[in-house]
Amino acid sequence: MPSPGRVPVRSAVRAWVYDRVIAGMTSTWYRQVLTRLPHGARMLDVGIGTGAALARCADVVRAKELSVVGLDIDPDYVACCRAALERADLTGHVAPVLGSVYDHRGGPYDAVYFSASLMLLPDPAAAIAHVAALLAPDGRLYATQTFHHRRSPLLEWAKPLAQHVTTIHFGRVTYEHEFRKAFADAGVELEELSTMRSTRRSSYRLAVARLPEAA
Ligand SMILES: C[S@@+](CC[C@H](N)C(=O)[O-])C[C@H]1O[C@@H](n2cnc3c(N)ncnc32)[C@H](O)[C@@H]1O
Repeated sequence: MPSPGRVPVRSAVRAWVYDRVIAGMTSTWYRQVLTRLPHGARMLDVGIGTGAALARCADVVRAKELSVVGLDIDPDYVACCRAALERADLTGHVAPVLGSVYDHRGGPYDAVYFSASLMLLPDPAAAIAHVAALLAPDGRLYATQTFHHRRSPLLEWAKPLAQHVTTIHFGRVTYEHEFRKAFADAGVELEELSTMRSTRRSSYRLAVARLPEAA
């Protein structure tokens, strides 16, 4: 495994592209979620990517004394993530882990967070059900991502093409009914779906979910 600061060139180039395209926007999403967490919360970040978005929120992570496990299946991103966390002086708070959400055993967590990572998974409902079992009793599941208001066959066609060019996995075009269905299929109650920002065609939203009350 590369040591922090010695990231292979290919990984660094992919991470550079990723940070330019995604991290500016998603760091504002992270900030909104992190500020909601209780002091000292243990959080699982599913799909931490290069860690750039989380590193830009280092002030909140430190002030709240958060303890984060950052999971990702992409070895290039995880290598860059280690280096980014070192630079942000977050190694005492965030542990990057190479692995898939479906295989992760850990917790209990006070929060599980999917930032732009839930609806790109092959089976979002299975991922929600899996991580819900890792939550502490009062824990919450958070997800932030883009929703499209109306069906867009053009975008559905263009997204995989954009992945090919940028190497960034943008996931499928997401519509609200599909997102809600993933939570319903997982048996997890969606208690909030708020809009952080909206345009005519799409909106950036924050979802909060919890385990249903025991009958
Ligand atoms: C669009 S990026 C979002 C990164 C970061 N959360 C952010 O918002 O800036 C989605 C990330 O999910 C990761 N990912 C995809 N499938 C995964 C899986 N099965 N388990 C964990 N991470 C996964 C990808 O490698 C990628 O880094």
